[in-house]
Amino acid sequence: MDKAQQNSIQYRSAQGDGDVVDFQKVMADFRERLKFVSSHGSPKAVEKHRGRGKLLARERIDLLIDPQIPFLELSSFAAFDQYDNAFPSAGIVTGIGLVQGRECLLVANDATVKGGTYIRETIKKHIRAQEIALKNHLPCIYLVDSGGIYLPEQAQVFPDRFDFGRVFFNQSKLSAAGIPQVAVVMGSCTAGGAYVPAMCDETIIVEGQGTIFIGGPPLVKAATGEVVTAEELGGGEVHTSVSGVADHLAKDDVEAIEICRKIVATFPNVQKRAVQLCPTEKPNHEAEELYSYLSTDLKKPIDVRAIIDRLVDSSDFQEFKENYGKTLVTGFARLKGIPIGIIGNRSFLTAESARKGAHFIQLCNQRQIPMLFLQNITGFVVGKKYEHEGIARDGAKLIHAVANSVVPKITLVIGGSFGAGNYAMAGRAYEPDFLFMWPHARIAVMGGEQASGVLQTIGQNGRNANLVTQFEEESTAYYSSSRLWDDGIIDPVETRDILALAFTVTLNQPVQEARYGVFRM
Ligand code: COA
Repeated sequence: MDKAQQNSIQYRSAQGDGDVVDFQKVMADFRERLKFVSSHGSPKAVEKHRGRGKLLARERIDLLIDPQIPFLELSSFAAFDQYDNAFPSAGIVTGIGLVQGRECLLVANDATVKGGTYIRETIKKHIRAQEIALKNHLPCIYLVDSGGIYLPEQAQVFPDRFDFGRVFFNQSKLSAAGIPQVAVVMGSCTAGGAYVPAMCDETIIVEGQGTIFIGGPPLVKAATGEVVTAEELGGGEVHTSVSGVADHLAKDDVEAIEICRKIVATFPNVQKRAVQLCPTEKPNHEAEELYSYLSTDLKKPIDVRAIIDRLVDSSDFQEFKENYGKTLVTGFARLKGIPIGIIGNRSFLTAESARKGAHFIQLCNQRQIPMLFLQNITGFVVGKKYEHEGIARDGAKLIHAVANSVVPKITLVIGGSFGAGNYAMAGRAYEPDFLFMWPHARIAVMGGEQASGVLQTIGQNGRNANLVTQFEEESTAYYSSSRLWDDGIIDPVETRDILALAFTVTLNQPVQEARYGVFRM
């Protein structure tokens, strides 16, 4: 290892030397933005909604889930800073909550955001929620209140493989996999949206509010000349007593949710994979101390051991190959009693650390231990010496191991996520079961300065200030979360609880045997 490498993995002091003031600003911005995206549509739309005696999407969820148990909301920042911020949370709330003690995946349209209609990010979020449900055998509850496709965006949301049609395709797959699905129709269910309740196992509809129809009254009039009201065409009374499309008629939102909870109580329990659970022990250090180890200056190394100490039970980390390939930290720990394997970056990946990572992933698969990837990675080491030693071959081993790993894996971006390091550390393309980011984290093919330097070297142009700014803007956690490249930005202090819930859910996955391809030696 050369001097540059040694310097880059210097440990930090026990107190941490992150820029505390700087990080307070990061967290203040995070809280303010989270409040904004969680505050539903315009005050006028909220007033209109309430005036109809309806609850807001998040209030409906609060009523549905078991009291005192936190709801893990996913991708709250979807569509943030896009569409003039007219679609907070992309007009849909998704997440995992306990209903009658059962882990359920909840999807709730927010009718105060453009009538709960679907833009690209709304669809991505709905489909991602269903993917999580399918993989982790989670019953789905759809709180439906939507005008279907947001018509001005139809070309972005209608025809392609993962567009609106995929929602109903996924409902069929979930149903065939024996995963229960319930719809609570609390507002409009128009056109394709009508299939959400029609494809569920059981459907509840709210009297005077819920409607289900393939074509609404204006379309019917235009197509056939028939004049009919929404209630006559597809209201609660019609669907529970004439068509049979819905099964239960509720007088309001509250009663509909009560009926839904009773239905969930009839679901069978899911058999979790057998792991050696231990009693939960708190970490030996306060979670608030995490802030002091973080900085917006991603050039400063992050003491990944200090982060691990503040996440895992008793701060007990059984390190594997402590003295080898030191730019990567690997080892076993417990998170609220669940055994996990942790892979965390201390600096860029070297041949040794890539081989160590691949070895560790095999161990976790052999022992059926779920994995946590802590990403803070600038990429693989570069230079003639390393290319000659075959860094590409060793990097490939790690990528093979990550791609074919079958134990549950969760990725948390605690700093930077750049270049091929993103792939090797279970980036989105490697299908981690969940991927979360901390608010200051960044993700891009490389930093803006580096990209500008590359283009300058290959003679494209001089130092390009616009490119640097572009990369800065496009690499923030908010930019990522807005486009659903992750499952949400989370507060470092809440990370332990969120990871524990996410790992618990992944234990619903059946045990599989890992099979790897050709590792170039
Ligand atoms: N596409 C684009 N915008 C839509 C929309 C759609 N499908 N449905 C509603 N909107 C917009 C409205 O223009 C309005 O926008 P604004 O807030 O900028 O004024 C907002 O969503 C709320 O709609 P509004 O009609 O005022 O609310 P509502 O609660 O009284 O009714 C619906 C909501 C969804 C029942 C009603 O708007 C509707 O029937 N929309 C058409 C549904 C449809 O035919 N969809 C077919 C597409 S698959």
